[in-house]
Amino acid sequence: MKSEIYCILKNGDETMKLIKDENPMWDDNKKTIVEEGPFNLKNPEIGSPLEEEWWKLIDMDQNVLGYGWITMENNDFEISVAIHKNHQELGLGTYILGELEQIAKNRGFKATVSVVRKKNDNSESIINWLCRKNYISHWLGIKGMEPKSKEFAINVVKKSDITLIKNLE
Ligand SMILES: CC(C)(COP(=O)(O)OP(=O)(O)OC[C@H]1O[C@@H](n2cnc3c(N)ncnc32)[C@H](O)[C@@H]1OP(=O)(O)O)[C@@H](O)C(=O)NCCC(=O)NCCS
Repeated sequence: MKSEIYCILKNGDETMKLIKDENPMWDDNKKTIVEEGPFNLKNPEIGSPLEEEWWKLIDMDQNVLGYGWITMENNDFEISVAIHKNHQELGLGTYILGELEQIAKNRGFKATVSVVRKKNDNSESIINWLCRKNYISHWLGIKGMEPKSKEFAINVVKKSDITLIKNLE
């Protein structure tokens, strides 16, 4: 499997690389960019190994611009993305999300999952962002996970984490 993916910024000449973290551990870059807060990482200590599959986006000077990581739970391919606050709104989050969705497809998954936590201060804008990437909010009903509206998700996330699913087929 390819462990490096190259990307060229649409609006510039900088070349970036999305690289798989072969031995992911909690470090200063992750602490700065991912900020423990809105995610479900179990309050890791610097140097402690991480269970998820981590990918990092680096520039030509090896600066880390953002991370995407994959959590496998109940055979779901769950994607989380975090971009350094100085590099947001440049299309980098969209790029990482798209590449991890492609990895899911290559591995035979028919859908990807993203969870927006109630503790995320920007939950509404993240739900809007994911819905623009064709994610649909879901809620557990009698028939299993049922699709719900974006407005439902924005309301529910004030009290509970919300799952969004993208169909890859
Ligand atoms: C949510 C998050 C990952 C988005 O990443 P990002 O890199 O800022 O997002 P993008 O730049 O791809 O998209 C944001 C907007 O920037 C603008 N944009 C996209 N490409 C652009 C470009 N080339 N040039 C200028 N602006 C651009 C667009 O308006 C885009 O909106 P869209 O949804 O219509 O595409 C980021 O805000 C973040 O890290 N948040 C904190 C962590 C978090 O809560 N993550 C939860 C996600 S699971």
